[in-house]
Amino acid sequence: MFCTRKNTTQVEKKWWKEAIVYQIYPRSFKDSDGDGVGDLKGIISKLDYIKSLGVTVIWLNPIYSSPNDDNGYDVSDYRNIMKEFGTMADFDALLKGLHDRGIKLVMDLVVNHSSDEHEWFKQSRSSRTNPYRDYYHWWNAERGKPPYRYSLFDINHDAWRYDTVTNAYYLHYFSPKQPDLNWENPKLRQEVYSIMKFWADKGIDGFRLDAFQFVAKDTTFPAFPKGFENTFWLYYAMGPHLHDYLQEMNKEVFSKYDVMSVAEGAGNNFTDAHNLVDTNRKELNMAYAFEGVDIAKSSGYSLLHFKEVFTRWDSAFANNGWLSIFLANHDQARLVSRFGNDNPQFREVSSKMLSTFILTMRGTPYYYNGDELGMTNAGFTNIEDYRDKASLAEYQHVKNTGGDVQKLLNEMQFSCRDNGRTPFQWDSTANAGFTTGTPWIKVNPNYTTLNSIAQETNSNSCLNYFRQLTKLRRDNPVLVYGKYTLLDAANPSVYTYTRELDGVKFLIVLNFSAVTAQAHTAIESSNATLLLCNYINPPAAPSLNNITLKPYEARVYKL
Ligand code: GLC
Repeated sequence: MFCTRKNTTQVEKKWWKEAIVYQIYPRSFKDSDGDGVGDLKGIISKLDYIKSLGVTVIWLNPIYSSPNDDNGYDVSDYRNIMKEFGTMADFDALLKGLHDRGIKLVMDLVVNHSSDEHEWFKQSRSSRTNPYRDYYHWWNAERGKPPYRYSLFDINHDAWRYDTVTNAYYLHYFSPKQPDLNWENPKLRQEVYSIMKFWADKGIDGFRLDAFQFVAKDTTFPAFPKGFENTFWLYYAMGPHLHDYLQEMNKEVFSKYDVMSVAEGAGNNFTDAHNLVDTNRKELNMAYAFEGVDIAKSSGYSLLHFKEVFTRWDSAFANNGWLSIFLANHDQARLVSRFGNDNPQFREVSSKMLSTFILTMRGTPYYYNGDELGMTNAGFTNIEDYRDKASLAEYQHVKNTGGDVQKLLNEMQFSCRDNGRTPFQWDSTANAGFTTGTPWIKVNPNYTTLNSIAQETNSNSCLNYFRQLTKLRRDNPVLVYGKYTLLDAANPSVYTYTRELDGVKFLIVLNFSAVTAQAHTAIESSNATLLLCNYINPPAAPSLNNITLKPYEARVYKL
């Protein structure tokens, strides 16, 4: 099942392969002016904290002007900063502050759609002959109602919205306030490249292309097959000219700057993923695939499945291309609540174990803010506490169609992305030190004990463990470039693998279960050094072939 790998020392070294990406959700990170919404000055005030984490790249969720229908993923001006977040001067200061500390900045580029309040859309909807008409997808009503298209964020799941002004429907895969841009129009594409150059000329270090696998469309718009809404990407991803557009973007933008590039999603199979990031094709740097993060369900997940997925994806990129490694982001609930165990007894150890996984795999790690503290799901039980437009629309949809609202609420407690968006827990003062005002979304009540200040002074905290991990990765190229080999594949509780480069070999053993478990490595090494463990004073293993691990124990050995 797993293909043979050639010697990894041949892999070309790049800064973005060696990067440790820390994702900041600006709205929830730190508020500097008391309006309850995080902002750029807030991030600036925490730059030394960010530096202390040992991360090397920041990915910032969208900060452009936006009416905030989808927390900035609906952009009304791509060359300006959202009022609540600050000004362009604040942005320049943030970029300088990061660069002064040796940290790079990757911006989120949201160009599958804009806001309906963007000037392009205002023009486009004003008349059928407007020069901006073809910046979006329109279906004139005299053709009849367009065939069904599924929308992710629409109350009726309908991706076509009728607009009276020109008696036509416009397309929106996400909310009605996020009309899809028409990538088939070369003028639109040039506008996007010009926006990208504007930011690249400012000195930013990369782009994360939001929802990009959906930009290319079959403009005959065949009907979406009803009943397949839960696997919508199979129908929407990798449209006809996607690779042409990426190659054009690469030629126009990426090739002219030393920037990293990653698109959200990696297509529907390995061929798609490879074609996106194969260096010879000159498209993107690295794939960001969802199969791994999607494994966790409210009913749990199987470690055997988890191992199989991550091993398969590693094998796919062993020779060419590069992968992102992540288990959380702003669209997911909290890492420890989904993949670990947020029961107080196990929260810290399981959180550290998962961090160990993310930081010791091959591929660029993407780590989501707050996970370094082991922040947990808020688990709101009341619909009024939720802010996410996507979940609120789905709630309304279920209600309107007579579905089981309570079942949805239960599911949201576990999986709603608002769980990952509650304010960063800085300290034990009011609102976790996030704001002096009223936070835009409720703070998780556990902030009184779970916060960064409490963890700073505790050498055994999740925070300080994370710092040890980032240092370990920065100091050891084997963790970046080394060949990955899965051991003890059939073990249902322990994930064991080695990383190997130029004669240096690391062994990683991770107990994913809440009970004591045995790791069998088939390695008989007598002089292994234990570099890191998430328990204090771990007993030496009598043999590496039989390591007894406490619940959620993680060990990293140098062989
Ligand atoms: C991406 C973003 C998500 C957003 C959606 C629409 O999936 O990650 O947060 O809601 O695109 O822009």
